[in-house]
Amino acid sequence: MGETEEAITLRIIIIGMVVIFLLSLSVIIFFIVYQRRLLAQQKKHQKIETDYQKELLKTSILSQEEERTRIAKELHDDVGAMLTTTKLYFGQITSNLSPEELESITKKAGGFLNDMINSVRTISQDLRPVILEKLGLMEAIQSLVQTINDSGKIKISFNDHTVHTISKSKELNLYRIIQELITNTLKHAEASTVKIELKNEGDSLIVIYEDDGKGLDQKNLSHKKGLGLKNIESRLSVLSGTINFQEKQLGMKVKIICP
Ligand SMILES: Nc1ncnc2c1ncn2[C@@H]1O[C@H](COP(=O)(O)OP(=O)(O)O)[C@@H](O)[C@H]1O
Ligand SMILES: [Mg+2]
Repeated sequence: MGETEEAITLRIIIIGMVVIFLLSLSVIIFFIVYQRRLLAQQKKHQKIETDYQKELLKTSILSQEEERTRIAKELHDDVGAMLTTTKLYFGQITSNLSPEELESITKKAGGFLNDMINSVRTISQDLRPVILEKLGLMEAIQSLVQTINDSGKIKISFNDHTVHTISKSKELNLYRIIQELITNTLKHAEASTVKIELKNEGDSLIVIYEDDGKGLDQKNLSHKKGLGLKNIESRLSVLSGTINFQEKQLGMKVKIICP
């Protein structure tokens, strides 16, 4: 004899419940696994972000140290040496010197003092360009470009199409970024011309910088980044800006966007 109708219904109900239970269990397990994976991914992204921030901080500290070492060296070798020599000259001044000898010594010492004044001016100019403070970013870049053009090694054209002014606090960072880009062109590119353009797009400031030198290989750019390029990134992170290296037939081209 077969099972009764009730037993069959009961069996179907039990099987149905088991299936529903298994289904809900797999949904729960899937959800937990998915959540875990999501969390792991978030953690990974966070780690990449903090590693990057750490790297930028390290670069900034390193370059500050490098800058201090350079200034200390300039002060020691330049100003220090000249002060020592000047002191020697002054030590030679005694009451039994002839007027000619006295004149010669004061002339030489005066010359050293003049050199020292120039040295100190150059060092302080390097630390914080006076023209930047007095006249602003565009004039400071113009003056930098003029100084380099005067050397006759390279031809830099600078076009300012900006309509908004930039806050004073951002000017030094932008100036240093452009200075590093020019230094890199002079150091690495073997270029003959450079084009620098500044303009506004909406509320953003755009800097387009290009040279016609050897160019930068985009593929191994991340390995090549030295203190200079990392410094640019670190300065841009302060400005919440971005830098993009763009494809170019000859030379290199970057676009910097500062909101
Ligand atoms: N304008 C450029 N043209 C060609 N190569 C460049 C240019 N700018 C940078 N580079 C390359 O990128 C590298 C990293 O530059 P950077 O970070 O400023 O370090 P550094 O100037 O101290 O070598 C350089 O060593 C150079 O090989
Ligand atoms: Mg450099």
